Amino acid sequence: MTWYTYQKNERKKAPSKVESVGKAQLGGPFELVSMTGEPVTDKDYHGKFVLLYFGFTYCPDICPNELLKLGAALKAYEAENPDLPKIQPLFITVDPRRDTVAQCRAYCQDFHPRLQALTGTPEQIARITRAYRVYFNDVGVRDEDDDDYVVDHSIVMYFLGEDGEFIDFFPQLCEAPEIASRMAETVRERLEADGRLKKQWSLW
Ligand code: NI
Repeated sequence: MTWYTYQKNERKKAPSKVESVGKAQLGGPFELVSMTGEPVTDKDYHGKFVLLYFGFTYCPDICPNELLKLGAALKAYEAENPDLPKIQPLFITVDPRRDTVAQCRAYCQDFHPRLQALTGTPEQIARITRAYRVYFNDVGVRDEDDDDYVVDHSIVMYFLGEDGEFIDFFPQLCEAPEIASRMAETVRERLEADGRLKKQWSLW
């Protein structure tokens, strides 16, 4: 059972309680370091919907594949929904030791023109990964000078609302078209709810 269906089932049992608890459970404020070496916080992204992925730039295959998928999802979302606001893609490293500001900046260029990669102190990274319940384990580090190791980590994308709150998550099995359509559905609902987008009536 995925966490998503778990939440859905729980909601049936105790609708009001789970709704509020579920929101408080994931994410929250953060302080990290931008690709220009400046301090950056969650507030810098308020006003935008955010698609967030945790990984490390030396990851041999999974992170590159996930980021290609992230790029494909954004491309599909934008092509199918020209009336909706663009989504900010974010990458947060779980390997701040090797993922310096310069390394993050160089890495982003391969995937999406708007992708931003954030790093931070080990403590800052520990806090945000805890907040999002991201698992990671640099089991391969043998000594201080060892720069050739792999970090085992959870593979999930998080979708955040315009005030930074967690809305949805996409595990590795989710393909780009599903991510695009689920994001679009949420964005559309929210903009329609507060009158920023006219409700569209489908005739077929
Ligand atoms: Ni990876």
